[in-house]
Amino acid sequence: MLDHHSNNTILITGGAGFIGSNFIPFFLNKNPSVKVVNLDVLTYAGNLGNLKEVEKHPNYTFKRGDICDNVLVGHLFEEYGISGVINFAAESHVDNSINSPRQFIKTNIEGTFNLLETARKYWNRKNYRFHHISTDEVYGSLGEDGFFTETSNYQPNSPYSASKASSDFLVRSYHNTYGMNVVTSNCSNNYGPKQHDEKLIPTIIRSAINGVKIPIYGNGKNIRDWLFVNDHCVGIDDIYHKGKAGETYLLGGNNEYDNLTIANKICDILDVKLPKNNGSYHDQIQFVEDRLGHDFRYAIDASKVSKELSWNANESFDTGLEKTVDWYLKKYQL
Ligand SMILES: NC(=O)c1ccc[n+]([C@@H]2O[C@H](COP(=O)([O-])OP(=O)(O)OC[C@H]3O[C@@H](n4cnc5c(N)ncnc54)[C@H](O)[C@@H]3O)[C@@H](O)[C@H]2O)c1
Repeated sequence: MLDHHSNNTILITGGAGFIGSNFIPFFLNKNPSVKVVNLDVLTYAGNLGNLKEVEKHPNYTFKRGDICDNVLVGHLFEEYGISGVINFAAESHVDNSINSPRQFIKTNIEGTFNLLETARKYWNRKNYRFHHISTDEVYGSLGEDGFFTETSNYQPNSPYSASKASSDFLVRSYHNTYGMNVVTSNCSNNYGPKQHDEKLIPTIIRSAINGVKIPIYGNGKNIRDWLFVNDHCVGIDDIYHKGKAGETYLLGGNNEYDNLTIANKICDILDVKLPKNNGSYHDQIQFVEDRLGHDFRYAIDASKVSKELSWNANESFDTGLEKTVDWYLKKYQL
């Protein structure tokens, strides 16, 4: 249990998800004087099993609950004397937002609004930090060249990215209207240990291992910039502590790859680590009908955060991918 009313306790929302469950152990270790309350409603995407290493940490408390619940969030601010927020909680899967967008509007927009309102009420002009985690998908789609920067226009294309864009605007407005000490970081696609099975890289690994088809949307040429989750965690910590109030920072991995190349790279790794009796994992790759409104390319120019906060992504895509495959092989006890 935490010391109540300590003045250095931060609320991390969605900490049982992929990025949050990588971030919390890192953050507790890096900031030994800061206490963390993790508020997570545990949707299908939340997994407390990924936080086992901090379960008994003296500076860590888990609360199950919804960021949209204003009574609960208010109680937490009061009970723990919350003096910082990092908001990871979201519905995060684009495919789900296409099939059933309602919960995306609720959690991503209303939930962020509720956190901002509660912070405004309890912080009462104190200069505490509110860090909102967002995505490069708010900027829409790029062509063959060019990069997103902090000044790119917002052009969200899916219900997911539209809901994240709306939450970014709310965060911005709480700075411009109420002077709240907010920062927003928009990152590219994360990969690494603890990611939910539904996402691209875990799906490729799992399908390969299970001997079923490895599904690749369309012609496999859609390009994303891939950021190793540990690099992302370092960037969030830097921005939380040193970012300038009211600013946005873009975090990218400088690793642009199309989906087919990623599938091939993973098959190469598995062919070495877990050779099949006959044939190669590559034989399982199959193209499937494309996602509706599938953005062609995302790429990030992360020079602002590099120049201002000295943050750079360190992991190469090949080593990061290998670490990721190793983590899943261990998970599946292979
Ligand atoms: N994963 C990526 O590649 C990526 C890229 C860019 C931005 N982001 C952003 O980073 C953040 C974290 O992403 P992730 O991949 O870890 O997501 P995730 O889906 O793995 O985890 C989301 C977590 O939020 C929790 N949650 C959902 N609704 C909630 C609610 N109403 N109240 C409390 N908790 C709730 C879930 O239980 C889950 O633990 C999200 O805001 C996402 O938009 C992710």
